[in-house]
Amino acid sequence: MIIIGVKGTHDIYNNEACEFSYVENVMKRISEIFAFTEVRPPVLEHSELFVRSVGESSDVVRKEMYTFLDKGDRSLTLRPEFTAGIARLIVQNKLTNLQELPIKMYYCGPVFRYERPQLGRYRQFNQFGVECIGHDNPIADVDVISLAFTILQSLGLDNVTLKINTLGDEESRNNYRDALKEYFSKRIDKMCPDCKQRLELNPLRILDCKVPEDKEIVKDAPKMSNYLTDAAKEKFKYILSLLEEMAIPYEVDDTLVRGLDYYSDVVFEFHYKSSKGNDYGAIGAGGHYDKLIKEVGGPDVPGVGFSFGVERLVSVLKDDELIPNDVYNNLEFYVMPMGAKYQPTGIAVANIIRMNGYSVDMCLDDIKLGSMFKRAEKKNAKFAIIIGENEVANGKVILKNLHTQEQLEVKLNDLKDTIDELFEEHECCCGDDCDCDCEEEGHECHCHCHDKKEN
Ligand code: HAM
Repeated sequence: MIIIGVKGTHDIYNNEACEFSYVENVMKRISEIFAFTEVRPPVLEHSELFVRSVGESSDVVRKEMYTFLDKGDRSLTLRPEFTAGIARLIVQNKLTNLQELPIKMYYCGPVFRYERPQLGRYRQFNQFGVECIGHDNPIADVDVISLAFTILQSLGLDNVTLKINTLGDEESRNNYRDALKEYFSKRIDKMCPDCKQRLELNPLRILDCKVPEDKEIVKDAPKMSNYLTDAAKEKFKYILSLLEEMAIPYEVDDTLVRGLDYYSDVVFEFHYKSSKGNDYGAIGAGGHYDKLIKEVGGPDVPGVGFSFGVERLVSVLKDDELIPNDVYNNLEFYVMPMGAKYQPTGIAVANIIRMNGYSVDMCLDDIKLGSMFKRAEKKNAKFAIIIGENEVANGKVILKNLHTQEQLEVKLNDLKDTIDELFEEHECCCGDDCDCDCEEEGHECHCHCHDKKEN
């Protein structure tokens, strides 16, 4: 019997692995342009970290954490998100004392939530996100939203909806909680057992309830916007005005409260419906948090951040054919020894080419030339290197361009120079402002644009 993967996990390999790397690299590059630096927190944390920060009343802590006792009887949890771990890392390493504020970090890696698997929802999935910690200037909030927006635009996702709301300051939220408590107390008998608990722990979480009958009751619940203090309203107005100045379109959604307890003031989500009509839920989300750093034992400084679900991003990009062709592993050379006894020469030739920075694979089976060409084609190799009796005797190889089918004999001593010439950078012969002279010179252009055009 074969052992299959754990429910809600998925294997990422071949082209899909290239797609994940592409998306992650775009996000890393743009985060670095916005002066964020990489952080790699551990996957394992003490369970208490998430209970204290994400919150006892959140679904993530109540139902979705992978929590277990280790051999020393410590309660540990596989991170269900990054933000709490980053807060812990900053406090434990005293970074707020040691570094200029705000501290700006980006991260990427797997997170774990015991949810019901469905389209765009996994139990192990990957998040890419950023946190900007230690400054209370609302411009930090806008900077983080602008980074998220720039990432989505760079990936080609133009029709994204940014839903935004404010949860206000502490006073606003206390007023709102009281109003919700009053409203739901009168209706709680008709609501699910989870909501009964939520009413005690944090009535705000009732707004996340997914039970259809409860959703109907939630529809008429008081709205956050009616309980904001003047200061909270002003701050939100200022953030929205900055977004407008930066031409970042948004929709204020006063039902948006987010499911994690640490948020205060501005919260937001990015939604995108692919042209295939698939709705993967929010592709990313985030917000401001005033008390998280203090909650985990640090100074009273705020933070703001977002996380994208990498699986969801890859899915919408694939649906809308927005993944560039050149992200896939395109092999440069495929070495084809014509018989087992030429394989040692084959691997030596492969290594000469590899040492010069080109990707090379070699056929390890003693098979017919035609079958080797089929394999080269499957691997999308640009060139074949054929080595047989004649070639070994004369210290040569046959170099064949698999796009044009042209071939030439090259002396082993000249191989490096010949290959360098083939891959020499030419100005692009495909662009609108093309002033490329490679075709006039009679040689092939191997730049990426040329490949794309052919594909
Ligand atoms: P979150 O909304 O829980 O926020 O998750 C962020 C993103 O992760 C979601 O928008 C979604 O794209 C993706 N995601 C969530 N659950 C799943 C799942 N089961 N399967 C696949 N993708 C999923 C946070 O995690 C916060 N830490 C974001 C943040 C950072 N707030 C401030 N800083």
